[in-house]
Amino acid sequence: MVAMTTIQGAGIGLRSQHYTHILTHQPTIPWLEALSDNYLGGGLPLYHLEQIRAQYPITLHGVSLSLGSADPLNMDYLTQLKQLADRIEPVHVSDHLAWVSVNGHYFNDLAPLPYTESVLHYVADRILQVQDFLGRRILIENLSPYLQFRHNSLTEWQFLAALLDEADCYLLLDINNVYVNATNHGFDPLDYLDVLPVDRIKEIHLAGYEEQDQFLFDTHGYPVQPRVWTLYQQALQRFGPVPTLIEWDTDIPSFDVLMAEAQQADTYLCQHHLQN
Ligand SMILES: [Fe+2]
Repeated sequence: MVAMTTIQGAGIGLRSQHYTHILTHQPTIPWLEALSDNYLGGGLPLYHLEQIRAQYPITLHGVSLSLGSADPLNMDYLTQLKQLADRIEPVHVSDHLAWVSVNGHYFNDLAPLPYTESVLHYVADRILQVQDFLGRRILIENLSPYLQFRHNSLTEWQFLAALLDEADCYLLLDINNVYVNATNHGFDPLDYLDVLPVDRIKEIHLAGYEEQDQFLFDTHGYPVQPRVWTLYQQALQRFGPVPTLIEWDTDIPSFDVLMAEAQQADTYLCQHHLQN
């Protein structure tokens, strides 16, 4: 297994709109997260990523492992992902607790899973296979699904805690998703955080949601909302100063706007250090 190197502080999601700015101005940012699927085809995107990697630690975040799908694991995709990881040497590799394919056909949404014992064992086994193939532990990210299955026998947080143990993997904890879920599905987000094992949380995501008719949508097109900042501070109290990423995927703003968001996260991370 590849040993996980460490990162600290608040990073920013790497988007193609900012390649030139980053390479020209070399902003002070502790790390960047690249969307792995965008670089599997090589070419100019990979050229830019390698140039940026020469100056910054990189994490790789993907959407196509389809860990919950009934399809067999996609070995072509896994092979490409391993080749990218070998080349970029990321701090870590992550994907989602989701399924995104049926009979080999991929769709754009991250679909949620039923939270049952049998699904838990099925997904854990697939994560173990992925980790064996990649030669490293991976991080699994929690979703913000807009539906729940009637036959759930576990809560999402119980499912995640058991999965982290059974698959011996780590969690990429998206605090915005926890808040969105808690609001849409009516639970206390602190109940969610309280059950998760502290030593398995290796990264936090922060993003902005959109509210329509008292329902929250995880659109990743807005600044982090005040109530998510509050939950983030509560998460830091429980999990410590976990490296944190600002995600912004639609209506991508200037790099300076993302830097301001990252600096806000860094302020909370530093406050946590001073208080503890
Ligand atoms: Fe996220």
